[in-house]
Amino acid sequence: MTTVEQADIQAIVFRVVEEILEEIDAEFEDAVSSDVMLIADAGFSSIDFVQMTVMIEENLDQKIGFQDMLMKDGQYVADLSVGQVVDFAVDRLNNPAGATATNGVAAPAAAPSAAGMVAGKTITEDDVAAFAKLIKPRKIVAGGDSTAKNKRAVFILSPPRSGSTLLRVMLAGNPALFAPPELHLLSYATMDERHADLSNAHSQHLLDGTVRALMHTRGWSGDQARQFIADCEASGMRTREFFGALQQGLGDRLLVDKTPTYAFSVDILRQAEAYFEDPLYIHLTRHPCGMIRSYEESDLTRMMPLMMKNSEFSTSALAEMIWLFSNRNILEFSQMVPAQRWLSMSYENIVHDPEHKMTEVCEFLGVPYHPDMIDPYSDRKTRMTDGVDSASKMSGDLKFHLHRQIDPAAATRWRQFCSEDMLGHETLDLLSTLDTEVASIRV
Ligand code: A3P
Repeated sequence: MTTVEQADIQAIVFRVVEEILEEIDAEFEDAVSSDVMLIADAGFSSIDFVQMTVMIEENLDQKIGFQDMLMKDGQYVADLSVGQVVDFAVDRLNNPAGATATNGVAAPAAAPSAAGMVAGKTITEDDVAAFAKLIKPRKIVAGGDSTAKNKRAVFILSPPRSGSTLLRVMLAGNPALFAPPELHLLSYATMDERHADLSNAHSQHLLDGTVRALMHTRGWSGDQARQFIADCEASGMRTREFFGALQQGLGDRLLVDKTPTYAFSVDILRQAEAYFEDPLYIHLTRHPCGMIRSYEESDLTRMMPLMMKNSEFSTSALAEMIWLFSNRNILEFSQMVPAQRWLSMSYENIVHDPEHKMTEVCEFLGVPYHPDMIDPYSDRKTRMTDGVDSASKMSGDLKFHLHRQIDPAAATRWRQFCSEDMLGHETLDLLSTLDTEVASIRV
């Protein structure tokens, strides 16, 4: 085995850190050196941390197992210097046998004081009402034409941080399904409206799911796919037609759309019924404490619309309200859908018993089970986990890349830090009405 040189790895890590600093427009202007602390000095958030590890692995074209660097005794480390990252990578590359199996993955807390639900300060119905006002209302003008509906599609409905990326990638392993990254189509009537809403610095990566999907179905480069979409936007194409164009390239494969923000509005969810012939829905649930903890660690508020970001709510209160609001919308919508087109399933059970749960999903979708579904880290291209320009730009959960297999420990890690006592009554009420799967993993 050839020994990896410290200087080579250092050059890669420095370059990656510089690229991220440029991308996030950091105030840090000194030269990158081994002593620079990534959170305290460079101003990294936890998402930037994960992006850095994915980009380093991409440069090296191999997995390093960075999760072991980020986690110590079930807790995430508070900060790391650039030099520590270099040393860890060099050590791993020279001693691969030292790698431990993946365990519950967390990224460093960029804002430790914001992390942590506070017992005794629970959210109320008034908070939820105030939160609802922060969500931009959607005016979606229905089809407006008499053309037949698009053929059947499948929707994964869940709040963010519910294991939806993992489920999507598992489904993408089935040759009878086509499950690209988040499409963000249903929330808009036309492609130009979608472009206008998403093409800002915070959310432009959300436009990539459709690009990635076209690259896969048409064999196009990223630029060709972007040009096609730009033409659709310029001609005022309806999102429904765009869905149809995507489905045309699929043959018999079923399109699966997992876009967590659809659950922000029942009106958006209704669009699925208006656009598609007998669509199928998978309601993906997760224990609220797991979702809240995950939301806090991923620093997702940074990505949220400005109104929400500037609100008075703590990060955990925002996360809890997103959990409550999204699940309420999904359940309200479920009342409008025949039971045979609806399946509820928890993230907890998927990671604990993947084969059984994927068999159940396949029966529901009417497709044969395929063993690749429970091997989500094989064949990156088919799974579309590699992003348009680079893996680190994948829309959805970047932490997916930190795991190396389906990891059941990730589902219960929150128990070390949170308890149901911290949840509001409304949340607990809804939790008790959710399917027995989430209830079965309750403490
Ligand atoms: P944690 O942050 O609690 O670890 P989403 O894709 O809906 O945003 O969900 C993100 C959650 O899915 C994260 O939860 C992430 O770790 C978890 N996840 C991603 N890949 C996973 C895997 N291979 N095994 C278990 N959990 C995984």
